Amino acid sequence: MRNPPKGKKGSPKRLIGRVGELAHANSKKFTLRCGGSSVEAMLINFEGEYFAYVNRCRHVGISMDWVDNQFFTENGRYLMCANHGATYEPKTGECVWGPCVGASLEGVPLEIEGEKIFARCPTLTGVDRS
Ligand code: FES
Repeated sequence: MRNPPKGKKGSPKRLIGRVGELAHANSKKFTLRCGGSSVEAMLINFEGEYFAYVNRCRHVGISMDWVDNQFFTENGRYLMCANHGATYEPKTGECVWGPCVGASLEGVPLEIEGEKIFARCPTLTGVDRS
């Protein structure tokens, strides 16, 4: 069983969506205010489960979507960075093809309460945004 992403202690949770809002292989971008900085992230539905990741490719560290909010491959199986084609597993965020194989997207902790989906600031690696 995978480890859920760690959140910053004491960071407030923010309502980012509702269960049923996204169909399989669909995504929704949102922004969290974390320690004075904005963190752009994506909420995704993959096979009925919700996951969220920081919108920052592990190859160069830039946004993954050229077309706004387009993260999934055409067949809906993977997340893909539009810049150089890094391909990620939706359930784990692990890069399985491309220039950053083995690295993982930074997960955003989610909490689902009834129909509401909340996110907390992630513990970011590489860049200190606290
Ligand atoms: S920046 Fe994402 S693959 Fe290069």
